Amino acid sequence: ADPDPLQDLCVADLNASISVNGFPCKPLHEVKSDDFFYDGLSKEGNTTNVFGSSVNSGDVRVFPGLNTHGLSVNRVDFATGGINPPHIHPRASETGVVIEGKLLVGFVTTSHVLHSKVLKAGEMFVIPRGLVHFQLNVGKGKALFLAAFNSQEPGIVILPTTLFESKPSIPNAVLTKAFQIDEKFYNIVSVKNKEGF
Ligand code: GLV
Ligand code: MN
Repeated sequence: ADPDPLQDLCVADLNASISVNGFPCKPLHEVKSDDFFYDGLSKEGNTTNVFGSSVNSGDVRVFPGLNTHGLSVNRVDFATGGINPPHIHPRASETGVVIEGKLLVGFVTTSHVLHSKVLKAGEMFVIPRGLVHFQLNVGKGKALFLAAFNSQEPGIVILPTTLFESKPSIPNAVLTKAFQIDEKFYNIVSVKNKEGF
């Protein structure tokens, strides 16, 4: 979904003093082979949090070689019973492949139709851009999938934390009326993960 590149290489200069849509390219004479490789998704994420999952985003902010290429990858780990809670990527469609375990994967269309399926290792899914989706570990042990995006920085809007943990908070009158719940029923504890937001 990102614009096309206009040149072979445009490794992001994440600390540039000018700001553009995306990131400016660092000077060509500073480009190194290492700019095009990234090992940050090689380790299992820490799933000790309220959701029992961990999203590690391999996007342009950690892998500057992705700049202008309209691509990125996430690694998502699950503890037993863990959930990657309902969320949206404003700038990308997502496709994923289950590497380990058994996951219920679902998304909801703008006409409120749920499409979902339980997937096992080797099986793939696609989430259309901007739609609410989730994954729940329904297997007996840990689970893991890798997801690819057609954006160097898909962005992520996690619904529970966005709605119930914003700063300042959304007034209780908005949340209780909108969700038809009593305020004592929601108490999301901060999920510290490595998302770029
Ligand atoms: C999974 O849906 C992810 O966005 O990493
Ligand atoms: Mn997603």
